[in-house]
Amino acid sequence: PEFWAVIPAAGVGSRMRADRPKQYLELSGRTILEHTLDCFLDHPRLKRLVVSLAVDDPFWPTLACAGDIRIERVDGGRERADSVLNALLRLEELGAQSHDWVLVHDAARPNLSSFDLDRLLSELANDPVGGLLAVPAKDTLKRARADGRVAETVDRSVIWQAYTPQMFRFGALYRALADALVADVAITDEASALEWAGQAPRLIEGRADNLKVTRPEDLDWLRQRWSAKR
Ligand code: CTP
Ligand code: MG
Repeated sequence: PEFWAVIPAAGVGSRMRADRPKQYLELSGRTILEHTLDCFLDHPRLKRLVVSLAVDDPFWPTLACAGDIRIERVDGGRERADSVLNALLRLEELGAQSHDWVLVHDAARPNLSSFDLDRLLSELANDPVGGLLAVPAKDTLKRARADGRVAETVDRSVIWQAYTPQMFRFGALYRALADALVADVAITDEASALEWAGQAPRLIEGRADNLKVTRPEDLDWLRQRWSAKR
C-alpha cells in the first residue's frame, strides 16, 4: 500500500485569540504550518501531501511552499472532519486505493519528531485497523459537577490524550467520516469516526511535546524550547 498525508489547516484558531489563524503565527522565523509540513515533505514513504485551507485564506499564497508541487491544496470545510473529507476526495482523484494508508496530522502541531512518525508507521504497518499517537494521562483527573466542584477522581491508568498523526486505511476512513457526518455525530478526530463505525484504533505512545498549539501559552512554550534548541 501507499502512504498519503493530510494536513487540515482550515481552522480559525479562536482559542488562540491572535490576529490570524494560529497555523500562520511565527515560530523560529517561519510559520507554524511550514514547520508542520516540513515534518512530512522529506519523508521517503509518503506519496503525496494534501493541505486543507480556508476558502478565502490570504496567508497561504505568501508562503514559499505555496508553489511546491509536492503539496496539493483543497478547500476546508465547516468542521475539521469536513476539511479532512475534502482532502480524501482529492486523494481519490489522485488514485488512492482502499487499502492505502492515510496519515492525518493537525497543522497546529509543528513539533512532531521524525522518530514518532516512523514509529507510528512501523508499529501500524500490519495492523488491521490503524491507530494514533497518544500520550498517557499524567495528572490526577477529576470529573466535574455542573456547579464546578469535584464529583469524583477518574482512574488515570486507562486515560490517554489523543494526538496526531492518526493513521487509517483510506477506504475505512473515508466511509467512517462520510457516514459520521451524515449521521451528524460529533467527530473531533479521525479515530472517533472509526470508533463510531465500531473499530478500536490502536494507541501508540508518543512524545508529549508533540503538542497542539491551542492557547497562547502553548506557543510561548514552543518558542522558548525552540530557541533553546537552536
Ligand atoms: N481545522 C480544519 N478545519 C476546520 C477546523 C479545524 O482544518 N473547520 C484544523 C485546524 O486548522 C487545526 C486542526 O484542525 O490544524 C485542529 O483543530 P483545532 O486545534 O481545533 O484548531 P482551530 O479549530 O483552528 O482552533 P479553535 O478550535 O480554537 O478555533
Ligand atoms: Mg477547533
